[in-house]
Amino acid sequence: MRETRRWLAGAVLLAAAATVQAEVNQVRVWAAACANCHGTNGHAQTGNESLAGKDKDELLQKLLDFKTGRKPATLMHQLSKGYTDEQLAQIAAYFAAQKK
Ligand code: HEC
Repeated sequence: MRETRRWLAGAVLLAAAATVQAEVNQVRVWAAACANCHGTNGHAQTGNESLAGKDKDELLQKLLDFKTGRKPATLMHQLSKGYTDEQLAQIAAYFAAQKK
């Protein structure tokens, strides 16, 4: 019985770790969609905004403002509509965590 419990606890931990890993990979896929214009991991070439190392809340606020149309844009208002607010929050956190 005790062995079974220990085994179960291990299995639950493994499953949780796998879920976290899957979420990380998912965010990277979303972030890769930004790379064409904002550079790999948010390191833009000249002429475009870098996203790497920016404040997470600021990034999220801009993305939400694009989405609702509060912030005028040529493209970002369309792009940001492709993600839920929760996804945008994860993307903002991802870029904020990148080294400048
Ligand atoms: C096709 C090119 C393109 C892609 C792809 C793109 N962006 Fe943008 N982004 C722009 C342009 C151009 C602007 C300036 C606002 C505008 O005109 O839309 C901008 C502005 C921004 C800004 C505001 C920067 C600032 O400080 O004012 C943020 C934040 C941003 N983009 C995040 C993202 C994220 C996150 C993604 C991926 C989900 C993404 N962008 C994908 C072109 C792009």
